[in-house]
Amino acid sequence: MALISAVFSSLPTLLTYGALALGVAFAIHILSQLIVPKDPRQPPVVFSILPFMGNAVEFGMNPIQFLKKCQEKYGDVFTFYMVGKRVTVCLGADGNQFVFNAKQNLSSAAEAYNDMTKYVFGREVVYDAPHNIFMEQKRFIKAGLNSEHFRQHVPMIVEETTEFFKQFKKPSGLMEAYSTFGELIICTASRCLMGKEIRAALDESVAGLYYDLDQGFKPINFMFPNLPLPSYKRRDIACEKMANLYSSIIQRRKAENDNSNADLLQALMDATYKDGTSIPDKHIAGMMIAVLFGGQHTSATTSAWTMLELANQPELIAALRQEQIEKLGSLKAELTFDNLKDMPLLEAVIRETLRLHPPIFQMMRKVVADKIVYEKSGFEIPKGNFICAAPGVTQVDEKYFNEPTKYNPYRWLEKTDPVHQLEVGDDANIDYGFGAVGISSKSPFLPFGAGRHRCIGEQFGYLQLKTIVSTFIRTFDFELEKEGVPKPDYTSMVVVPEHPSNLKYTWRE
Ligand code: HEM
Repeated sequence: MALISAVFSSLPTLLTYGALALGVAFAIHILSQLIVPKDPRQPPVVFSILPFMGNAVEFGMNPIQFLKKCQEKYGDVFTFYMVGKRVTVCLGADGNQFVFNAKQNLSSAAEAYNDMTKYVFGREVVYDAPHNIFMEQKRFIKAGLNSEHFRQHVPMIVEETTEFFKQFKKPSGLMEAYSTFGELIICTASRCLMGKEIRAALDESVAGLYYDLDQGFKPINFMFPNLPLPSYKRRDIACEKMANLYSSIIQRRKAENDNSNADLLQALMDATYKDGTSIPDKHIAGMMIAVLFGGQHTSATTSAWTMLELANQPELIAALRQEQIEKLGSLKAELTFDNLKDMPLLEAVIRETLRLHPPIFQMMRKVVADKIVYEKSGFEIPKGNFICAAPGVTQVDEKYFNEPTKYNPYRWLEKTDPVHQLEVGDDANIDYGFGAVGISSKSPFLPFGAGRHRCIGEQFGYLQLKTIVSTFIRTFDFELEKEGVPKPDYTSMVVVPEHPSNLKYTWRE
């Protein structure tokens, strides 16, 4: 009792001291930015009011707008503070090239991401593996995503999509774009990549495990990878259970000689490391989880944005249907891996969605050498800083794209935008251990990244999206519920349409 009353009686004094300390911290933070002389070798620092938080709030609300505003004020290279982290942003095509091509001993993706990803994917895979082993792991995954498998994947995706939409029983109604396509992508990706066993268990145990892992793959986990909270505990348990589940599937397939599966799981089971050792089950499980996370939200949001943009321009839906009629004879003709390759407008629609709505608009590395010199800008970036490329900014820069904020898939067919002169470069042929990268890191259009960390799921991603879009436009007429394409929501790991982003659908005959 005495203690409580003592605390209460001293509360006003405590509050006064607290407010004073906060005031001093603010004053020091602001004055140090105004008074302390700047090192001219280092990039300019973006002014911020809040100590520790830095520019996190402004960045979090609309990062593209924030980065463009900073670009106008400070130029293409600048540093800002975000929850105690120093982030040096390198904008423009040169900035992309600098970040994506930086040497491994100077800057590291593992140092930037592994604190978080090791808990979701498990140990000894991806960023938790030595870099050369990770590159081998990428090679295995890429090898499993091949034309022979893709040929078998297309009918599977058509079947999954057709079945999935049967749940919309009314002749017309509303569907929320991101959640609907998110659910569909889990089905299609599980069926094609994760294996028939995982697909079969999707409605039961696996869905819960996916959910718990996903709760550990949020911006908060990036900032605070390991808090003593129930969701973190559930994430760890789910990771272990997934590894055990995969292990049991692998053991069963081996015992029963069940080895003619067109999925990624089988491809990994059949692969061996360069030193001749076979891949441990827990590495296979980790890679499967990483693939799921690499492809799930990215493809879900891209399909949602595509349908929303199409719904906003019905003449595009008509043109896509016309393309199918011209190429295939009718909207009832079977979709195949080969005929989907020959649909330029369909491809351009997806490219344009990825330009205007890149799911991952910025990519980070952490400087691990004493400093890294960005020669073209003349700046030195010190150890511990994050360096950040932001293709999401170059992809809407009028230097590279005419009328950059307009959703116009035809730009990819007409090829009159300045971007087309910049997409080529020798670094496209570099092989970091998983085959040639395929695109120059100097391109302003990099929704799949570039360099050693470039996406290896691009081809599968396109195939999946093309098949889903084609099936959707054959199945439904659709329009936006409210006028205008929804705004982007930047609070998840990928950029999603603001919730709810409803489509009004009507079943076609
Ligand atoms: C629309 C679909 C997709 C988009 C927009 C996308 C985007 C990206 C981006 C931007 C990166 C580079 C990250 C960085 O540099 O930090 C990346 C890497 C990667 N993605 Fe994708 N991705 C997609 C689909 C997929 C799919 C379907 C898979 C698996 C089948 C996948 C697996 C990976 C892997 C393994 C990496 C390598 C990460 C690294 O080396 O650090 N992605 N992806």
